[in-house]
Amino acid sequence: MCYNQCAKHFDPDTMSKTDPLDIVPLNAPLGAEIHGIDASQTLSTELVSSINEAWDKYHVLILRNQKISDTNLLAFTKLFGELDPPGPNPFGEPFLPSFPEINVISNVTENGRPIGNLGDGEAVWHADMTYSQIPPKAALLYAIEIPPSGGDTYFANMYTAYDTLPAKLKAQAAQKKVIHDASHNSAGVKRKGFGEITDIRATPGAHHPLVRTDPNTGAYCLFLGRRPNAYVIGLDLDESEKLLNELWSHATQEDFTMRHQWQQGDLLMWRNLNVIHRRDAFDPNTRRIMHRTQIKGDERIR
Ligand code: OGA
Ligand code: MN
Repeated sequence: MCYNQCAKHFDPDTMSKTDPLDIVPLNAPLGAEIHGIDASQTLSTELVSSINEAWDKYHVLILRNQKISDTNLLAFTKLFGELDPPGPNPFGEPFLPSFPEINVISNVTENGRPIGNLGDGEAVWHADMTYSQIPPKAALLYAIEIPPSGGDTYFANMYTAYDTLPAKLKAQAAQKKVIHDASHNSAGVKRKGFGEITDIRATPGAHHPLVRTDPNTGAYCLFLGRRPNAYVIGLDLDESEKLLNELWSHATQEDFTMRHQWQQGDLLMWRNLNVIHRRDAFDPNTRRIMHRTQIKGDERIR
């Protein structure tokens, strides 16, 4: 009798269907390296669904040693969903005019002007663009040039954070909505066209449930967005501050996080609604250039 492995060996056409994906989970509560994928190639639908399965399970996938063009990055991203263009940047025009769907994350300046977002400072814990009604469900970040040290990126698993929340905090967070600040980016820089915030109860940005229900599995995760200028609707200011401080200090414990130390050629993919992330500062005299895409969310957070 010929079992699976034998069939695989003799029928190259079925290899992409039966070959298990080479997944190496990190020693962390989320994150896995995926080996053997070349993101410059078109992948079979079977391979795409295996990657999606791993993505659901590990939330952050790491593909090392990729050599991809901007066209490749767009094509690869589109295998997983519809492109969601970047939010507005300070210059009112795309960083890459020939590729407006690509965002640039960089501290490099050319002709006195930044070629990308976020500079060289710390980016505080956040999920991307949750200030919009339908935030992107995923993002991909490709490392083109990285500094010799610093600029590590951390992700925290918001399912684990919810599951381990003390019952009292679960009860306090249930049915509550929080405001996600639209006026500042994760480097703390005010976006064009927004005023100063004088009363956080009037922070501009989408209102989303503090506890998100995954529409496919029914599982709950914390959905915090970003801490600065957040406010829990309906609570007194001090109650809102207290609840948010407790939720954030729980959610950002090291036990729930993974750390990514970048190598050139890394392609990171994260499920934006399942995790939060932050980035370390790095030496301003070094260069860091990343190209980035994101995938449209399907529906409002519930
Ligand atoms: C982002 C982001 C972190 C980094 O692209 O959304 O937060 O490591 N980047 O540059
Ligand atoms: Mn981000």
